[in-house]
Amino acid sequence: MIASAYLAAEGFEADLAEELRRAGRRVSTWHGRLALSPDPAGPAAWALDTWTEPREIAAPSVKAAADALRALQRNWSAYLSAHHRRGALIAERLPPVKARPLVFPEPAPASHLGAWTLLAPDRLLASPAKTSPFVHGEVAFVEDREGPPSRAYLKLWEALTRLGRHPAPGERCLDLGASPGGWTWALAKLGARVEAVDKAPLDPRVASMPGVTMREESAFALDPAKEPPVDWLFSDVICYPARLLTLVQRWIAAGTARNLVCTVKFQGATDHETAAAFAAIEGTVLFHGAHNKHELTFARLAP
Ligand SMILES: C[S@@+](CC[C@H](N)C(=O)[O-])C[C@H]1O[C@@H](n2cnc3c(N)ncnc32)[C@H](O)[C@@H]1O
Repeated sequence: MIASAYLAAEGFEADLAEELRRAGRRVSTWHGRLALSPDPAGPAAWALDTWTEPREIAAPSVKAAADALRALQRNWSAYLSAHHRRGALIAERLPPVKARPLVFPEPAPASHLGAWTLLAPDRLLASPAKTSPFVHGEVAFVEDREGPPSRAYLKLWEALTRLGRHPAPGERCLDLGASPGGWTWALAKLGARVEAVDKAPLDPRVASMPGVTMREESAFALDPAKEPPVDWLFSDVICYPARLLTLVQRWIAAGTARNLVCTVKFQGATDHETAAAFAAIEGTVLFHGAHNKHELTFARLAP
């Protein structure tokens, strides 16, 4: 019996396995990057996508498989890690799923999407519901190859798209660890007022954008209780997760940041304990986005 399935990003299967183990959720087997569990679905930061209602379906023929899926609902995405030819033939019989790159800040697709795979040539695993509206939990954007000085803006775009919220024009943002300025660029493009905090300089093209000011100081030297309130606190600072946790807790305790979005970066072995401490903060969203490397995105938004 498979009650849930979790899809890890390539190379992050061990992190997902460890997170599930710590949560007491069993993995009966792996199907490619998909962890199959006999336990009900629960939160999993290291899963790009979680299949919440998987069921095994006999599929004696390609037509029978496609018919069974269509009988359940219209929109399906395939995750194929084996039996690729047969899987492709089944997919051809289903309505095509448009995985069009988003033009930020357009919202994530609202249409319902399920996922399926072939566990064996004659056995489907199909989940009409999954946590991500994107195929394989991977959002793609129409990229800007001219404006931003680094590609880090993509993980901020992904975070804000997943959260379904972004700074409004005129809102005050602090961008900690801002250099060379990919996030600051993305925030300034939204019309927000951005104070970029870093000891390293911003790219001059970003520094001269309307609404951008630079503070050459350490993110850890700021006293949240003495800072004027901000609508958004962002951090992409490179530091140990435990140090970031303390910083985030100080801002939350001071109550001077309405919304927080931070990357929790891991150096060497993943610090699962601190990741769990982030997850335990009330109102937290914690996820490994498709644009995250060895890091998680932490967010806590105003209700
Ligand atoms: C991954 S980079 C940030 C990239 C940036 N978000 C962008 O979009 O271009 C990490 C930054 O953290 C900065 N940093 C490291 N320690 C810091 C500290 N104590 N205070 C402020 N910035 C710090 C580094 O100088 C570096 O620029």
